[in-house]
Amino acid sequence: MKALSTSQRATTKPAPDGADLPEHIPTHVAIIMDGNGRWAKQRGLPRIAGHRAGTENLREILRACVEFGIKILTIYAFSTENWGRPESEVKGLMRILEDVIDRELKELDKEGVQLRHIGDLTAISADLQRKVSNAIEQTKNNDRLILNVAFNYGGRAEIVHAIREIVKEGYEPEAIDEALVSRYMYTGTQPDPDLIVRTSGELRTSNFLIWQGAYAEYYFAPVFWPDFNKEELRRALVHFNERDRRFGLAE
Ligand code: FPP
Repeated sequence: MKALSTSQRATTKPAPDGADLPEHIPTHVAIIMDGNGRWAKQRGLPRIAGHRAGTENLREILRACVEFGIKILTIYAFSTENWGRPESEVKGLMRILEDVIDRELKELDKEGVQLRHIGDLTAISADLQRKVSNAIEQTKNNDRLILNVAFNYGGRAEIVHAIREIVKEGYEPEAIDEALVSRYMYTGTQPDPDLIVRTSGELRTSNFLIWQGAYAEYYFAPVFWPDFNKEELRRALVHFNERDRRFGLAE
């Protein structure tokens, strides 16, 4: 998207639910779903209850993305660093991934969601790997929304993986450029994220899409992920519309 003029920035259009939606909808939104643990702690619940609430919330946000016309949503569900969490929490997060596939796949497929995975699946159980692969296969022709689930994902690990693949393919150094490296990222030919949202008020990128996010706009929402609802997403889109994206160019 080119830089927006002042008049463009002020424009809104009605969303299907009647409320105003900003004119420019980002094609690709990525979310760091942070704050589940603190949300649970505030309620005297175990951390995994926060992750469960966060999973419920994902439904509302997925629906809102389709409604708002966002074409790609990338969510950070499990990082390469998350293996260092207590075993019960790691197991709980694996279980959530399995439950989401078992319980939600049919509905996601019906809604036209194309499921993709980014990250390294080899570290998870063979059974779960199979489930993920089947879900990807089943939904591969859907085109309403691409949902990239970053699971056992790390931005640096992704870059290392890309370099290894490029070397294996035997590319000459002169043939390696940014477009080629991008194609070897897990997101392949998908457009880079336009907007990266992090909930819970933390101001870090935490190794998320560090290659693809080079020119993304960042929005930090002051609420924990389970409380990030459709209105919060709308607010993020309004902020996105107020930004002047120049991609390093002069005004
Ligand atoms: C960060 O909050 C959140 C995570 C590490 C997990 C996010 C996972 C989900 C919302 C479940 C959806 C999963 C799938 C597979 C679809 P935190 O635990 O770091 O929160 P804290 O900073 O408050 O402790």
